[in-house]
Amino acid sequence: NRGAYPHFMLKEIHEQPEVVAHTLLGRVAGESVDLSKELGWTKEDAAKWRKIHFIACGTSHYATVVAAHIMETLGNFEIRTEVASEYRYRNIPIDEETLAVFVSQSGETADTLHAARLAKERGAKCLVITNVRGSTIHREVGEALITPAGPEIGVAATKTFTAQMTVLTLLGLYLAKLRGDLKPDTERRLTAALMDIPGKLATMLSKEKEIEALARDFADARGFFFIGRGLAYPPALEGALKLKEISYLHAEAYPAGEMKHGPIALLDKELPVVALVPKNALWEKTISNIEESMARKSPIIAIATEGDGEIGHYTKHVIFTPETEPELFPFIAIIPLQLFAYYIARQRGCDIDMPRNLAKSVTVE
Ligand code: M6R
Repeated sequence: NRGAYPHFMLKEIHEQPEVVAHTLLGRVAGESVDLSKELGWTKEDAAKWRKIHFIACGTSHYATVVAAHIMETLGNFEIRTEVASEYRYRNIPIDEETLAVFVSQSGETADTLHAARLAKERGAKCLVITNVRGSTIHREVGEALITPAGPEIGVAATKTFTAQMTVLTLLGLYLAKLRGDLKPDTERRLTAALMDIPGKLATMLSKEKEIEALARDFADARGFFFIGRGLAYPPALEGALKLKEISYLHAEAYPAGEMKHGPIALLDKELPVVALVPKNALWEKTISNIEESMARKSPIIAIATEGDGEIGHYTKHVIFTPETEPELFPFIAIIPLQLFAYYIARQRGCDIDMPRNLAKSVTVE
């Protein structure tokens, strides 16, 4: 039931504060992460898994890209993120020292399921993160962390993405802790910041009208180019995917520094650049990419940190995000990007909950 919302997608976007709060419940006690009720892992297990493989498709894959960036800051992990349809057919070393984490909202995605079978055969320790308890992947893999996002009806994944990022961040913290790599202040800092995420998502949702107006201004664009650096890059990927899926506009995301290596040739006044430019150590670098885009006459839409007094010199189209710990920027940045894609699609009269050519779960290879 979508209640008063015109589309399930919009309802599900609005459910995100509650979903994140629910996902943290029982997994964070005080300022400490504890997944021992769900995972029977020992320190020795965690020390043995030298290699961590994240395998997923689509939006679930982008959640793992966020996780990899966060985990790299937490401990000495050797991490790979792979799309399931590639993982299966490459000769990636998989063995008993591998922890293979499969992420699938539906738990029915054929490629992810086949990749899980392969990793299991090769002796890897397998774990699934899924929104559907008892789904095929859950039954086959056995060990699971559930994202309690509730059923997601819109074909475009939204609330399950934030739930997946939440679980993956907790998993990273927990593994780093078991391995003795996690600094107590980091655990305190990030658990406190995670507990604040629902409130910050609500702040972003309160900007809906502003984002709708922005979408009205840009609904006739030829396409969109998204840029971000570091942890601002994975939400750019997901923002571009949302636009492609539901508005049928071409949207592409690039690490901002790669722009000069080819795609800058695309830029002109009809190709807006969505720049994710949080106030962090990489801010100036991304600003220089914004300047390069402006020199090609691309309109700029910036997702910037509240209090950034300089971003207004570059563009009048700015959506401000509340400050958070740098690792958690993707959680907050994704809300305006989901809403932007939603309102662009609505302006263009697209079938938002059931976009053409797509199915909610892809059970064929
Ligand atoms: O159910 P899964 O998480 O395994 O699905 C993976 C992708 O098919 C899915 O995320 C797809 O990219 C979504 N439609 C994105 O909105």
